[in-house]
Amino acid sequence: MNFEFTEEQLMIKQAAKDFARAELLKGVIERDNNAEFPAEQIKKLGELGFLGMMVDPKYDGAGMDALSYVLAIEEISKIDSSVSVVMSVNNSLVCYGLEHYGTEEQKEKYLKPLARGEIIGAFALSEPEAGSDATQQRTTAEDKGDYYLLNGTKNWITSGKNASVYIVFAQTDAEKRHKGINALIVEKGMEGFEVGVKEDKMGMRGSDTTSLMFNDVKVPKANRIGEEGFGFKLAMSSLNGGRIGIAAQALGIAQGALDLALAYAKERKAFGKAIIDHQAIAFKLSDMEAAIEAARLLVYKAAWLKDEGKDYTHASAIAKLTAAETAMKVTTEAVQIHGGYGYVKEYHVERLMRDAKLTQIYEGTSEIQKIVISRGLLKR
Ligand code: CAA
Repeated sequence: MNFEFTEEQLMIKQAAKDFARAELLKGVIERDNNAEFPAEQIKKLGELGFLGMMVDPKYDGAGMDALSYVLAIEEISKIDSSVSVVMSVNNSLVCYGLEHYGTEEQKEKYLKPLARGEIIGAFALSEPEAGSDATQQRTTAEDKGDYYLLNGTKNWITSGKNASVYIVFAQTDAEKRHKGINALIVEKGMEGFEVGVKEDKMGMRGSDTTSLMFNDVKVPKANRIGEEGFGFKLAMSSLNGGRIGIAAQALGIAQGALDLALAYAKERKAFGKAIIDHQAIAFKLSDMEAAIEAARLLVYKAAWLKDEGKDYTHASAIAKLTAAETAMKVTTEAVQIHGGYGYVKEYHVERLMRDAKLTQIYEGTSEIQKIVISRGLLKR
């Protein structure tokens, strides 16, 4: 296995790092406090090609590989995960599905502006009663000939308010269970489509998470992605890649927390020496470093498998599970190392800890990753 990055990958990593320091660091605490969507920052990110990173240039994307994508998300997440979640959903869950399974017309109309970052997209699978158990879709898409009549409610939708295009999953033929689910492209402004109130979240407060309500929305048949009944397969295959994005996000959060804790431990003095010179702190930092490095290899491996065209379902679940658990542990220790300062906003680590928690929950909880991994084991 080659552990060296290409020059291009290193350039992308550096560009993301520079962007995060120049554009995201200033104001990140205020945006978190005010639960303010980073609209200006997302616009700039789009102009740099970070919202359609893996999309083919013929559809206005940047044509990069999954490893570059992971490196970029990791850098952005060290500073601001409210930005990297928008990036991850747009790239992995929205652009991916449209590029791989959409028609040429759908790519022209929706994928191109999404890849250029002119608009952002959302992925609407979760429902009030169908989160982890995603086959139980209550939203219905009744076949009316040349259109579907969409009715129902979606919950926990990232970019729910700020997106312009939504991939919405709905049940057309309940008897066929998950094989009767369709994926439909819904545009903001379609009659009968309403966005609910923004959730007041514990972490990633800048990203807008909302419910979506559909009341007799007429969605043209031309807006279905893939064959009739392909929706669930589309959701699952998009989430396989989405989990690599969130794993990279968790990795970035963990690394950001370690960087801050290390700098603090070198500076802060107690009992006559820098706290890093106390073994209690040095061992904590060592454990954090070892856990992050282990998670990093798993995340990069999942991205590498994707780039190689190999199956990455199992690897992406392992990467997400490990990176999210690592992020939670590492950020908690980073707060501990900072003592009282860690508990106040100015020092950033409490925000990273709150953000880390979400990586254990969304795009499949840690428990869901274990289900995916155990099914992989059963097949072995
Ligand atoms: N990749 C590809 N196909 C998959 C798959 C995967 N990871 N997992 C399941 N499938 C396929 C199966 O092969 C099966 O296909 P066939 O019928 O052709 O055999 C079909 O899907 C049904 O699979 P299962 O019988 O295994 O389905 P299940 O109901 O037992 O469980 C599950 C599947 C893995 C638990 C799935 O429901 C799941 O991943 N749930 C979590 C959903 C999730 O991550 N939700 C988060 C939504 S996104 C979000 O967080 C919002 C946001 O804005 C970020």
